[in-house]
Amino acid sequence: MRMKPSRNILLGLCSVLALGFLYYSSGRISLRGWNHKSLYDKQGFLVKLDTSLPLELMYKYGNLSEGACKPGYASAKMTAIYPKFAQLQPMFLDPNYKRYSKICDYSPPFGVKSQEKIIDILLSATKSYSLGEDLDNMNCKTCIIMGNGGILANKSLGQRINEFDVVIRLNEAPVKGFEKDVGSKTTMRITYPEGAIQKTDRYETDSLFVLSAFKALDLKWLRHMVFNQRLRSTDGFWKSVAKHVPRDPNDIRILNPFFIQEASFKLIGLPHNNGQMGRGNIPTLGAVAITMALHNCDEVAVAGFGYNMSTPHAPLHYYEKIRMSAIKESWTHNISREKEFLIKLVKAGVIQDLTNGICGAGC
Ligand SMILES: *[C@@H]1O[C@H](CO)[C@@H](O)[C@H](O)[C@H]1NC(C)=O
Ligand SMILES: *[C@@H]1O[C@H](CO)[C@@H](O)[C@H](O)[C@H]1NC(C)=O
Ligand SMILES: *[C@@H]1O[C@H](CO)[C@@H](O)[C@H](O)[C@H]1NC(C)=O
Ligand SMILES: *[C@@H]1O[C@H](CO)[C@@H](O)[C@H](O)[C@H]1NC(C)=O
Repeated sequence: MRMKPSRNILLGLCSVLALGFLYYSSGRISLRGWNHKSLYDKQGFLVKLDTSLPLELMYKYGNLSEGACKPGYASAKMTAIYPKFAQLQPMFLDPNYKRYSKICDYSPPFGVKSQEKIIDILLSATKSYSLGEDLDNMNCKTCIIMGNGGILANKSLGQRINEFDVVIRLNEAPVKGFEKDVGSKTTMRITYPEGAIQKTDRYETDSLFVLSAFKALDLKWLRHMVFNQRLRSTDGFWKSVAKHVPRDPNDIRILNPFFIQEASFKLIGLPHNNGQMGRGNIPTLGAVAITMALHNCDEVAVAGFGYNMSTPHAPLHYYEKIRMSAIKESWTHNISREKEFLIKLVKAGVIQDLTNGICGAGC
């Protein structure tokens, strides 16, 4: 008996889907099976990484035109190489933050424990907890995190950087005078007291000021900035800090410390140290910002990341003359461990590295 052509197509489609499902579930089953150690590394990342799309994502994204923003792409690719990834995590603390159980059990920098009172005061003064209406309403957002590496110099990437919906800058990295290489747009500046811009005329007028609190004192500092109070003492900071932040409270946010916790203990695999700050267990602000973007952006790119130690005379930062050779062994960070994590993201195409500093010559 002859079947109608449409039935044939349907049957064909069904077997393709069934095959796809088998392929998919075999991956999932072996995850829990005896051989998962050979498939996944200690942190839970797939060992064999390449930029090809898993079958289920090919169906979703294979169809989109080149350059179009792909909804959910970064988190889908992340989940494909790191099945433990759970996307939903707000960028900033909001009045519901006590319901985020994972941050309530840890003190800063990994959580909010015993800081609830000051956080409540800060949140009631800032009153805003999101990126703002325009960006919140986009159904697909591209984000770029700007590292401060000298590798950005003379690459004329400014225009390309401005095309991202969200441009995230770190600490005091300047824009004025460097627009050609680093762009002119700043959606937010993530910083801590010692890293914040000190000269008030260097602040851009239209970006969000985001505190990443690494210690309890950082929240106290922010309270002084929000309420415009004089900072009487700088005891407890490891270098001089900004005395005034010329931003309206409505433009100030507190970064969700979940991203510090997840980057350190889960993604990079730094020592847990009973949940306390200790030797080599604090991720750099760059790694924290990337972690935040994986949870909140549809596509994620970076630029200005990575140090090339074989060029000791090259500039460390794009905006100053300090050379690569000045970089010191850090007590708080573990740069080499962190680099392994960033390489995984680039290798698997979870993030795009515009300046190629993470993988360098080979990945
Ligand atoms: C793929 O493209 C076709 C033709 O342009 C369109 O009809 C279909 O809805 C697209 N599929 C997806 C998943 O976007
Ligand atoms: C960038 O170009 C300027 C002007 O040509 C030059 O002085 C500077 O050394 C260059 N910087 C780097 C890192 O190549
Ligand atoms: C970084 O991690 C490596 C490997 O886990 C370890 O040997 C090294 O001591 C760590 N460095 C710091 C500064 O903690
Ligand atoms: C570092 O710089 C040297 C000299 O420019 C270059 O040959 C090498 O490929 C670079 N290495 C990485 C990892 O980028």
